[in-house]
Amino acid sequence: MPTVIYVQADGSRTVCHLQPGESVMDGALDNGIAGIKAQCGGGCTCATCHCYIRGPWFEQLPAPIQDEKDMLEYVWQPEVNSRLSCQVKVTDALDGMIVDIPAQQA
Ligand code: FES
Repeated sequence: MPTVIYVQADGSRTVCHLQPGESVMDGALDNGIAGIKAQCGGGCTCATCHCYIRGPWFEQLPAPIQDEKDMLEYVWQPEVNSRLSCQVKVTDALDGMIVDIPAQQA
């Protein structure tokens, strides 16, 4: 199972093991990761699952669909490596991915 490391704004880390195909959002909710609200349940309509994906994993992700790009305009403090965690699916190739949780959601 791929490992995903969630990092809070204060630097605290939680190492989680996700199923391939599971979203970073689902992994966060299943493991009680604070800071991922996911109010729309993964529908790409709320932008409260915003996260930052560190390199080199960020560069390996499929490009966001237009709906995700549109919603990323509404997140708090967007960065070049911003993604909506509900749209990022974990694969074995992404093992060890580090996901930074914003200090707040939109
Ligand atoms: S959970 Fe709502 S946009 Fe991701």
